[in-house]
Amino acid sequence: MYHTDKSCEIWAVAGGKGGTGKSFITSSIATQLALKGRRLVIIDADFGGANLHSFFGISRPKHSLSEFFEERIPLSQIIVHSGISNMGLITGALGSLDSESISYTQKQKLFRQIRSLEADYILIDLGAGSHINTLDTFLLADKMIVVTVPEVTAIENLYQFIKSVYFRKLKFFLGSFGLKDMLQDAWKNKAAYGIRNFANLLDHVKKSSPDVHVAFEKEMSTFVVYIILNQVRKSTDILVGENLKSVCLKLLGLTAVYAGYADYDEEVQKYINRKEPFMIHCRLSPVIREIEDITEHIMSGKTAIFSARSYEHGRY
Ligand SMILES: Nc1ncnc2c1ncn2[C@@H]1O[C@H](COP(=O)(O)OP(=O)(O)OP(=O)(O)O)[C@@H](O)[C@H]1O
Ligand SMILES: [Mg+2]
Repeated sequence: MYHTDKSCEIWAVAGGKGGTGKSFITSSIATQLALKGRRLVIIDADFGGANLHSFFGISRPKHSLSEFFEERIPLSQIIVHSGISNMGLITGALGSLDSESISYTQKQKLFRQIRSLEADYILIDLGAGSHINTLDTFLLADKMIVVTVPEVTAIENLYQFIKSVYFRKLKFFLGSFGLKDMLQDAWKNKAAYGIRNFANLLDHVKKSSPDVHVAFEKEMSTFVVYIILNQVRKSTDILVGENLKSVCLKLLGLTAVYAGYADYDEEVQKYINRKEPFMIHCRLSPVIREIEDITEHIMSGKTAIFSARSYEHGRY
């Protein structure tokens, strides 16, 4: 079912800080897509902390990415059933495989095989932090999604993560013009060039040549980050997503879409512990509606306007 060449849409979920709810949100969005009849494969790419199967209430599958890396088994052959119709699961590698041991060639092979999986959507759950493998996998995606909670430390980590992703993207882009050194030089000597922030750096890059400028504008017009705010506890929390969106534009010159928020609901943990997928079994939670809306917004690419007042009225 999941194995021949066919184009699919890849969504990757990341975020700077650990424990914000990346895996919960990825598994919930995946379940929502599956409930809508989309065929998908969800990949646990959290090398070292692979636990995505727990969100589906299944035991650790026999097959995992270790077999892909260590035994050269094709990705399509390590897909297991997630327990939810229409959804296959590729479990992350634990223990023997740390991300440092993945070579560039292995990574390219992984990316090629991810792209050729037969499904409507591939969802990738990434680990916390800005490891180079995380950044590269994130950049592979057609839709780049980040999850944060409304806490200063998480937001700071997320901002650093977005900056690292953007910088890496820029490096790839300028590398294709033979201008990688120019970027390093500009960033290192930013004071001398009058570069105060990322937006200034981008202006500096654009000034380097008209060709680069045009190609850069085109490339970056498709570079969009979707922000999801998780574990919202009060109405004012939801404004954090709007602020983050504005900061991305002002300081990074980057388009971000605020895809929505999910409330904190203590039932989430209870269902994980009971090994019952939350999206299937806790239908009365407000989080269900919120995940449905988030999924719609990401599918359509449209942003919604959120206000604290509408939150209090239960709608936005
Ligand atoms: N909306 C929510 N309401 C209540 N609890 C939540 C919510 N989202 C996540 N949690 C709780 O937070 C814990 C961490 O969530 P999760 O494992 O999804 O985070 P993560 O970002 O994937 O972490 P890691 O960085 O370790 O991979 C879960 O055990 C879950 O119980
Ligand atoms: Mg996780």
